[in-house]
Amino acid sequence: MSGDPAIRGESGRMNERMQPEPRHIAIIMDGNGRWAARRGLPRAEGHRRGVEAVRSTVQAAIELGIPYLTIFSFSSENWSRPETEINDLLGLMKRFIRRDLTTLHRNGVRIRIIGDREGRDSEILEMITDAERTTKDNARLNLIVAFNYGSRSEIAQAARQLAMEVQKGALAPADITPERFAGALQTADVPDPDLLIRTSGEHRLSNFLLWQLAYAEFLFVDVFWPDFTKEHLVKAIDAYRRRDRRFGGLSETIKA
Ligand code: IPE
Ligand code: IPE
Ligand code: MG
Repeated sequence: MSGDPAIRGESGRMNERMQPEPRHIAIIMDGNGRWAARRGLPRAEGHRRGVEAVRSTVQAAIELGIPYLTIFSFSSENWSRPETEINDLLGLMKRFIRRDLTTLHRNGVRIRIIGDREGRDSEILEMITDAERTTKDNARLNLIVAFNYGSRSEIAQAARQLAMEVQKGALAPADITPERFAGALQTADVPDPDLLIRTSGEHRLSNFLLWQLAYAEFLFVDVFWPDFTKEHLVKAIDAYRRRDRRFGGLSETIKA
């Protein structure tokens, strides 16, 4: 058995073939509030520092050549937080787009927003639409921001859309395949995430990309989001590359 850690899995198991770099990394950026509480600071300060971590993570993804990065910035359930915190979060989102759009565009980042756009803050909607339009031809990094996003709602919406096509006679029920269904989701032209990272030590999905994460590798990192650095991202990618993705089949080592 090789002692070279480069060819051994996380569990110490032999894994002769390293996975290629992940094409798509999805991140549940969690722990801003606890980061602040530990320091006796208001939660808003945690969110502010969280935006800085977003900035450096996007930069790191560009440097590492990751083509798709999805970040969970506000869930459809986050509206149940106190109004002041919601306002802080919306304010930070607006400020992020206002301040960073030019730099992101210059760096070849294409921005896309997934989530429910109905009936929410019109200013933010306009900003989002503008950011998507401005950056639509960029291809270096696809940055997908999940904002007012809930996966069950996204899935229900896709089912509704397909049902309407069936009702019109444009689609037969038998044609509703997984591929067709995926095409009705907001992530239609985005490959499924290969790697999901959640910070802060919580081990749950919180209604994030339930369909798309079917075969992703999960990695739970024990730091609060504001402390997440390029080094954590590099380590996460490294751990991912040692995983043995079988997709229901047999490991390459066993097959050989
Ligand atoms: C993540 O940090 C940011 C959002 C969910 C918007 P939290 O605000 O959830 O921080 P914790 O989990 O309370 O520490
Ligand atoms: C998930 O974090 C949503 C975002 C990171 C935007 P939460 O902090 O809202 O999730 P729960 O409530 O702990 O499951
Ligand atoms: Mg949280």
